[in-house]
Amino acid sequence: MDRFQILGGRSLRGTVAVRPAKNALLPCLAAGLLTSDPVVFEETADLQDIHSMVGLLRHLGSEVEGVPGGAVRVRTPDVVEPEAPYDLVRRMRASILVLGPLLARFGRARVSLPGGCAIGARPIDLHIRGLETLGARITVDHGYVRASAERLRGSEILFDKVTVGGTENLIMAAVLARGETVLRNAAREPEIADLCRLLTAMGARIEGAGTHTVKISGVEELGGAIHTCIPDRIETGTLAAAAVVTGGDVELAGVVPEHVEAFLGKLRSMGIQIETGERRIRVRGAAGIRSADITTQPYPGYPTDLQAQFMALLTRASGSGAVRETIFENRFMHVPELQRMGADIRIEGNVAVVRGPTPLSGAPVMASDLRASAGLLLAALCAEGSTEIHRIYHLDRGYERLDERLNALGARIHRVRE
Ligand code: UD1
Repeated sequence: MDRFQILGGRSLRGTVAVRPAKNALLPCLAAGLLTSDPVVFEETADLQDIHSMVGLLRHLGSEVEGVPGGAVRVRTPDVVEPEAPYDLVRRMRASILVLGPLLARFGRARVSLPGGCAIGARPIDLHIRGLETLGARITVDHGYVRASAERLRGSEILFDKVTVGGTENLIMAAVLARGETVLRNAAREPEIADLCRLLTAMGARIEGAGTHTVKISGVEELGGAIHTCIPDRIETGTLAAAAVVTGGDVELAGVVPEHVEAFLGKLRSMGIQIETGERRIRVRGAAGIRSADITTQPYPGYPTDLQAQFMALLTRASGSGAVRETIFENRFMHVPELQRMGADIRIEGNVAVVRGPTPLSGAPVMASDLRASAGLLLAALCAEGSTEIHRIYHLDRGYERLDERLNALGARIHRVRE
């Protein structure tokens, strides 16, 4: 398992280009299953999760050309076996996103239940209930979801809770269903609008993408398309936070500032200077920043995937900042590790109160999940001395060569390969 050795205290300067969004690429790649024609992604990201999705598509029978990081072409004339086995799903929860497309196009699917993960239980009951409403017969046994249907039929679905993956799975199922489907209380994340943009280019009929109510008129078949996914808004926020905690001056290129409005709004309220322009954001760290409170919410609220990073930021700010996590029940795994580096954090239920500013000092720490690792990395960048982060495979799942890109801005991160 690789680990990072980070020498803290160096301010970051320069320009960094943000990569395509992991959470947009994953459903879009799965959408390649909906047609026998090629679906081409002009640019992808070289991430472990994208390799896993490509591996899953190949396992199902798709022909995939190209390598993650560059252009990738998916063509699925047929599937060999519409099954996502435990071994692949265990490595990447987003494997569940093949359920909707497989069922819609081939009338059957068998997908391993993803189970929980470090940040919480993460059930898929809303995916299953929604697909049943579209007429699928679903059984869950031996750890697998088994689904079948002649042809799905459009219906009305009201999600009890806002779910990103559930909305994506249901949209991909409904595009080939007979008749109209209306999804209410749908998630509004930009990744969903991006998926709908691809599906529309493939011939789907979708209204209201990126709003609470999505209407889908099923079509008989879909064709190929060429698509470029949106830039990663979580990577955007993480890199912006890196500029702030190191008192640096960084320009983020190729970004969509509106996608990170909730995050940038918080930075501004803390006294941080932000300039936004056409596909660019400039962030300048400064002394004397003030604390702020956040509550994680579905988009356009403050994203849970930028919660750990915000905690690292709060250790630099003066005053108390409350971080309320409402999406996942166990997403404070980074807190004990940040405390070991000197952070003053108190947890009460789903609220963590961070008091700052506190000097951080380098220490060996353990990454527990993807975004927690990003929080630890930010703390390490501004800590005095050297920090060793273990289990950085979590970080490699969602950030492309983050060590090299931060080093190009002046960081000192050494990857120890094992
Ligand atoms: C996606 C993102 C993830 C992000 C999360 C919330 C991808 C690949 N991952 O995950 O990075 O942190 O959105 O923004 O895009 N829930 C249920 N039943 C369900 C489905 C979800 O109870 O059937 C609950 C979950 O346990 C969680 C909440 O709903 O508490 C939101 O989960 P959801 O939006 O589905 O997250 P993911 O799509 O898994």
